[in-house]
Amino acid sequence: MQTEEYGSRLYGFDQPLERERIALIGEVFDPYTRRRITDLGLLPGRRCLDVGAGPGTVAAWLADQAGPDGEVIALDRDTSLLNEAAHSGVQIWHADVHTATDDELPKPGFDLVHARLTLCHLPQRQEVLSRLVSWLAPGGHLIVSDVINTMAAASPQPAVRTLTQAYDHALLTTLDSDLNYARAYPAPLIDAGLTDVDMAADVPLVRGNSPTARFWELTFTAMRTEIIATGLIDGAGFDAAIAHLTAPRTHELGYTLVSAWGRAA
Ligand SMILES: C[S@@+](CC[C@H](N)C(=O)[O-])C[C@H]1O[C@@H](n2cnc3c(N)ncnc32)[C@H](O)[C@@H]1O
Repeated sequence: MQTEEYGSRLYGFDQPLERERIALIGEVFDPYTRRRITDLGLLPGRRCLDVGAGPGTVAAWLADQAGPDGEVIALDRDTSLLNEAAHSGVQIWHADVHTATDDELPKPGFDLVHARLTLCHLPQRQEVLSRLVSWLAPGGHLIVSDVINTMAAASPQPAVRTLTQAYDHALLTTLDSDLNYARAYPAPLIDAGLTDVDMAADVPLVRGNSPTARFWELTFTAMRTEIIATGLIDGAGFDAAIAHLTAPRTHELGYTLVSAWGRAA
């Protein structure tokens, strides 16, 4: 099965509405990410790496937390949004994480490595996880977050349940992105050699007219053709599901953000 890279066409930063969609990722998920990282006890002066940093909202927040004595590096294969944002205190590492090596860094050993909504999109996700662990300083933390499809079980709307199942299938067959990966958390972190491993789940509610509803509308619509091509849902079903998700009275559980973390020995 021939798949394409995430961002090479689908969800590429040059695609219509992708800038709005990726900004909404921060709006929807940053509050959870900040809370989880804060709970790990991030202190001023730490060295942090954000992998697949996108527009860098998490990296910018990490730079604020780490302060002038800390160091924050944002890695992405497409650094155009990071370059534009030019967040104060954030250094940019333009690299594909599959092939990046810490030889490219001024000094190895991070106190915190973070990757949100990135591992699920990488074909060699377990190898990359091991690479991220190898970049930790002794006692440093890795925290990874990816979504799992809870809407397929929780939505009261059959069209929404079918849409999300078709979306997961389309992601896998088109991009090799696996939204089942985080179901296995935290086992991949234990397998990668981390200690003090734990996890948590956060569920942003989809309310009509909310940033979360708009995020999922844009996320599904960017892959409308591929979703319908699965044969699991037709155009009318797709449109009905989107109309429901964005209706003012909608209140539903969304996809769940699963965060897992652990510490290097
Ligand atoms: C869904 S976005 C998540 C962005 C950001 N982590 C967030 O949560 O706001 C996935 C990001 O991973 C980046 N990415 C995808 N494949 C990559 C790779 N092989 N190496 C580095 N970055 C990659 C994309 O360019 C994109 O910025």
